[in-house]
Amino acid sequence: MSTRPSQRRISRLSEIGRVATRHGFGYALGRRRTPDGDPAGRGRRLREMLDELGPTFVKFGQLLSTRPDLVPPDIVAELRKLQDDVSPFPYAQVRQMIREELELEVEQAFLSFDEAPIAAASIGQVHRATLPNGADVIVKVQRPEAPRQIESDLQLMRSAARVVRDRVRAFDFIDADALVDEFARSIRQELDYQQEARNAETFRRHFAGSDQVIVPKVWWRYTTGRVLTLERLDGTQVADLDVSTWSDEERRELAHRMTDVWMTMIFRHGFFHGDPHPANILVLEDGRLGLVDFGLAGRLTDDDLGRLTRLFVDVATENLSAVPQRLAELGVRFPHDREDELRARLEELYLRYYGARLSELDPIVLIHDGLDLVYSMSMRLPTRFVILDKTIATLGSVTVQLYPEFNVFEVARPYARRLVAERYSPRRIALNVQRDVRELGSIARELPYQVRDVLNEVRDGEVKINIANPGFDDLTHHVDNAVNRIAVALIVVGGLLGSAIVGAFAEGGGLLAITGFILSGGFGVWLIWGILRSGRL
Ligand SMILES: Nc1ncnc2c1ncn2[C@@H]1O[C@H](COP(=O)(O)OP(=O)(O)O)[C@@H](O)[C@H]1O
Ligand SMILES: [Mg+2]
Repeated sequence: MSTRPSQRRISRLSEIGRVATRHGFGYALGRRRTPDGDPAGRGRRLREMLDELGPTFVKFGQLLSTRPDLVPPDIVAELRKLQDDVSPFPYAQVRQMIREELELEVEQAFLSFDEAPIAAASIGQVHRATLPNGADVIVKVQRPEAPRQIESDLQLMRSAARVVRDRVRAFDFIDADALVDEFARSIRQELDYQQEARNAETFRRHFAGSDQVIVPKVWWRYTTGRVLTLERLDGTQVADLDVSTWSDEERRELAHRMTDVWMTMIFRHGFFHGDPHPANILVLEDGRLGLVDFGLAGRLTDDDLGRLTRLFVDVATENLSAVPQRLAELGVRFPHDREDELRARLEELYLRYYGARLSELDPIVLIHDGLDLVYSMSMRLPTRFVILDKTIATLGSVTVQLYPEFNVFEVARPYARRLVAERYSPRRIALNVQRDVRELGSIARELPYQVRDVLNEVRDGEVKINIANPGFDDLTHHVDNAVNRIAVALIVVGGLLGSAIVGAFAEGGGLLAITGFILSGGFGVWLIWGILRSGRL
């Protein structure tokens, strides 16, 4: 190409301007003084504009369609229709790419290679092929111009975001720069096929031996940053299933199974497929689900899950003062001048769950409510939680299409319950106590001061100790009984001894001694009778 980069950018920028004006968005770009176009059709116009601007913008529109927190519902509905389908690039360029990347001609690398791709998207396209050893594979080949075009579109998006922010008050609450950054991170990740291959291997390892899920094997010898070769799965995309002929039960079962697989990844493996799009899930002959397209994966560490759970438990148990700290631990950033508002929103959230027991709480719903709060406060959420939210949202919409009454949360609940149960199990608590003891060690140095404080209070008579012990009544009962037995024994023995002494030493004391014997015996019997009646012996 003979044009210099800056010229290219200017002409692309003016092309964007032209396209935007044509679709009625000239106002946003400063080309018109007043809003133009029919406001009712704004979603449709936006979708058509992005479609015309090309793949990067289409992907951006798809990202926006997963953020109902930022984008009004009418626009979300339109953006969901965006398809990342583009016309395939010529076979000559596929050959060229394979030659450069694998350092082999297509004929040397593969026994057979279908010229026509089975799918073409903005970043790459997928061809069926067979390896020299006879293995059936798919080869994903990146568009030669993809990295360059994406980078330059990202730059343009940054300028567009700035223009829009300066001109359109209604977009004030959107941090457009941050949104573009987030988008840039995820699209760059998708450009690296080696990363995708590593993700595939991780999923394959996690599902090894599963009779529910199959993940294709990576052929590393035929894989580079821009060419990806995977075992070919023989199945039908969920998108291509004709579910209209299925029974309700069959549809419900598939929706349930898909959700179960994702919950396993999220809660058990801590590593999940971030795009449960119906074209990325295959149904095999034997009923297993085949996963493909590993460009976007989310990671959730045990610590993340622990912190999330603690956050919800704190909210649920009115420990609201700890919440800002918990949010900070999760990496959530919020504006300090809005702390009061945050506290008010937290109280509101708390009141909603007031009185519910831990076992009754639904952590998934809590996660959802929590994220709602996070978004409405324009708090910055770490990317891994954004991917989690997007994944659950996509899964929700895919499964509802399969079976309208389906509720993702129903399947999610036992997983989340177990999470809470595990976190508050005796073993876990014991471990936590061990950790707390270690932490105590570190504050032991301060202890002398605290002890002195307490002693001062004792001296000043300010410490009052209440002992409430449910076993105390029992103890009193035992003491009563023991005292009674001793009293009986003393009186009887005393009477007998006294009489014996009198009898032995007193001259002519026989009668007195006998009287003593009788009296002490009588007292003994009377006492024993009284004690037996009170039941305390
Ligand atoms: N291992 C595979 N076996 C069978 N079909 C596959 C495999 N990988 C991808 N496909 C098919 O190719 C399509 C596009 O592949 P995908 O990896 O999803 O590319 P993209 O990132 O462009 O969406 C998938 O929707 C699926 O139908
Ligand atoms: Mg895909």
